[in-house]
Amino acid sequence: MSPQENSTKKVFVLNGPNLARLDLRDSAIYGTMNFETLTEFVKRSGSELGFDVDMRQSDSEVEIIHWLHEAADNSIPVIINPAAFTHYSYAIRDAAELVKAPLIEVHLSNPLAREEFRHTSVISGIAKGTIAGFGPDSYRLALLALKQLLA
Ligand code: DQA
Repeated sequence: MSPQENSTKKVFVLNGPNLARLDLRDSAIYGTMNFETLTEFVKRSGSELGFDVDMRQSDSEVEIIHWLHEAADNSIPVIINPAAFTHYSYAIRDAAELVKAPLIEVHLSNPLAREEFRHTSVISGIAKGTIAGFGPDSYRLALLALKQLLA
């Protein structure tokens, strides 16, 4: 293992429902990157900052909860876009609260500038912070914030 690989810090980047189908979603809101390209962008942004990004997506609340347990058990920091679960999943909130390493909430769009049901986040209260509205750069900015938090 090279010294570079040796010093990289693992981070989970977890994505909730429908984010794997960005290709089908409104490009005026979510931009033009499909999920594969977003994944490449996030992994590249992470490696530039010394992170080994483990990018995951699921439409299942249960699977996301299990990934949060995995992060909690292994002290792995988390960047999470809970997608629609943001607005109502107390189960994901409770699981996210178990993660003692920094956890940052991200959104591609700015939910506060959209429909009223998106104005509530049940995750924000237990996140270290929230970055929203910058498209794929929301993830890059979260990685930057995480780097500073861990420094
Ligand atoms: C989203 C915003 C949510 O309101 C929505 O349900 C999503 C994506 C975003 O990244 O902008 O699926 O989390």
